[in-house]
Amino acid sequence: MTDFHDLIVNRRSIRKYTADEVSAEDVKTLMEAALMAPTSKSSRPWQFVLVEDSAKLEALSKCKEHGAGPIAGCALAIIVAADVEKSDPWIEDASIAATYIQLQAADLGLGSCWIQVRGRYTVNDLESETYVQNLLEMPDTIVPVCIITIGRKAEERKPQAVEKLQWEKVHIGTWTER
Ligand SMILES: Cc1cc2nc3c(=O)[nH]c(=O)nc-3n(C[C@H](O)[C@H](O)[C@H](O)COP(=O)(O)O)c2cc1C
Repeated sequence: MTDFHDLIVNRRSIRKYTADEVSAEDVKTLMEAALMAPTSKSSRPWQFVLVEDSAKLEALSKCKEHGAGPIAGCALAIIVAADVEKSDPWIEDASIAATYIQLQAADLGLGSCWIQVRGRYTVNDLESETYVQNLLEMPDTIVPVCIITIGRKAEERKPQAVEKLQWEKVHIGTWTER
């Protein structure tokens, strides 16, 4: 268990992974974290699809024209989706669960990256949500928000530059232009 603030400082998006699998124990820990994420009215509208099959990962990496490449090389892709009929803030609910997965992955020493799906398009102009739903045989009402890639790190990233944080975006008491 790392100090939480150190974990936040050191977590970076990792897009290159070794060929190692993610252990069943680590997968369970990741999903436990996701299933404990807070949701509006405790509605828990999320659904998660776990993919390890390399052909499926390759296909998922084509879910949008740019920025989905890391899926092809990861050990585990977690499709974070939500039932749009269960909660109006389903995007927020799914996003918080995705963030929990990323922070839990960092605590396990695993690399992860958020790959945006919602609102994106494939090279053939198909909605990325539909592409992923079709590929994974998901119902129409279960809409993918993002895919979290997971794997052992094959790249090192520097920690966050704490000295460069945008403190001008913090307004005390009332809005102040800076
Ligand atoms: C909503 C959201 C969408 C993102 N989409 C992608 C993506 O599609 N592909 C990708 O490689 N990274 C994606 N990222 C990762 C960001 O590029 C990354 O978090 C950002 O550059 C800051 O870097 P850091 O995570 O290392 O601090 C996304 C992150 C967020 C929060």
